[in-house]
Amino acid sequence: MYQPQMTLDPKERGILEGKEGETKAKMMECLVRFGDTFGAKRLVPLTYKEGHLVTSFGIGLLTPIYPMMDTLIAAGLKADGGFTADPRPMDFKNVKCDLLEKLVFKKIMYNQQEHYEDQLTKVGLKSEDSFTCTCYLPEVGNTPKEGDILSWAESSAVVFANSVLGARCNRNSGVLELFGTLLGYAPEFGFLTDEGRKASWKVIVKCTKRPEAQILGSAIGMKVMEDVPYVMGLDHYLKKLPDEDTIAYLKDFGAATASNGAVGLYHIAGITPEAVEQGEALIKADAKEYVIDDAEIERVKASYPIMWKKKDKKAYRCFIGCPHLTIKQLNDWTDALTKALQESGKKKLVIDTVFTTSPAVAAEFEKSPKYQEFLKTGAHLSSICPLMYVDNPLTHRHRIMTTSNKLRTYSESRYYTDVEALSIISGKEGK
Ligand code: F3S
Repeated sequence: MYQPQMTLDPKERGILEGKEGETKAKMMECLVRFGDTFGAKRLVPLTYKEGHLVTSFGIGLLTPIYPMMDTLIAAGLKADGGFTADPRPMDFKNVKCDLLEKLVFKKIMYNQQEHYEDQLTKVGLKSEDSFTCTCYLPEVGNTPKEGDILSWAESSAVVFANSVLGARCNRNSGVLELFGTLLGYAPEFGFLTDEGRKASWKVIVKCTKRPEAQILGSAIGMKVMEDVPYVMGLDHYLKKLPDEDTIAYLKDFGAATASNGAVGLYHIAGITPEAVEQGEALIKADAKEYVIDDAEIERVKASYPIMWKKKDKKAYRCFIGCPHLTIKQLNDWTDALTKALQESGKKKLVIDTVFTTSPAVAAEFEKSPKYQEFLKTGAHLSSICPLMYVDNPLTHRHRIMTTSNKLRTYSESRYYTDVEALSIISGKEGK
């Protein structure tokens, strides 16, 4: 049996020794080894039982996962609080694919999707509509509160939970987060400790206008990597939480910090809960400093590589909503699209544009009159993960544009700010 370096109480040790079955013993060994690797002294019980899984796609190549899931099911394991999962990879109705693409997606890439969703349901997936990376939004309702300890993966959801909600979660890997959720424990290290939540970077924003969330997050992520930044100067531009625009800004900012770097927690002076409560006491004495002004934002944006083969050609498709959009963002985009089309004299968007949001937000949006306005623009609404569409050899041939710095980083998509994208997709540019 594995000899843990951390201290386990009798119940935890019993699980490791197999008193609750062989499957739980193996899962516990994974969790304990993970904690030992990072110097955890003990396990702590999860105070928030609802999980969130990063692995939502039944990709054929992930061969070890399917028998492992069968083993969990055979052992009768099911998450007490249930869990949500990242978005699905396919939606042929709203994200049009040609025959070859459909064939490759369904029969080769994601050929285990139905089987895997069935397995997820058996171990605790909350519902067939639980596929989104913004599980923490009120419409979805998987929303921990300040101080809660959780076992999630999906970097954009973890950084939001830690920073905006004040919950405590490490940047777990896929499957390990499921083991933690099923066992009800997390190893105590990193963001689960007070010390691990202190900032080792002081970031001072000195821009003359509110910086784009996606570029600011990218700049900070690339500078601090996995460290914790304490960001000063943004409270001039953001209203207090739970303002909807602030939530959307921090969602997009956080996803960029977590993907362009590896940030799992940030503090925003005057805005995020721990920064409001503790102020600059959160900053370590030896913290480094990074000043961001207009020129730095421009420098960072200009540094993004453009990987399209034909850089001067127009885009084949545009994805907006990575992470998934809030309802306020969908409403704002609808107004902006309608106005831009009036100005360009076009009836419909000139680029095939897919807006992505959670099934729960989509259901709310579809009930509102705004949805009819949205449809009139020719835009599409989907709940897929655009990365899973973009990131495969077949779709590399397409020129994809996006307003998401996360999607840009992980694919060959070209980044545009919201204003730039609006101008291109509505046909205003080049009129
Ligand atoms: Fe969400 Fe997929 Fe983007 S999981 S954050 S839409 S890469």
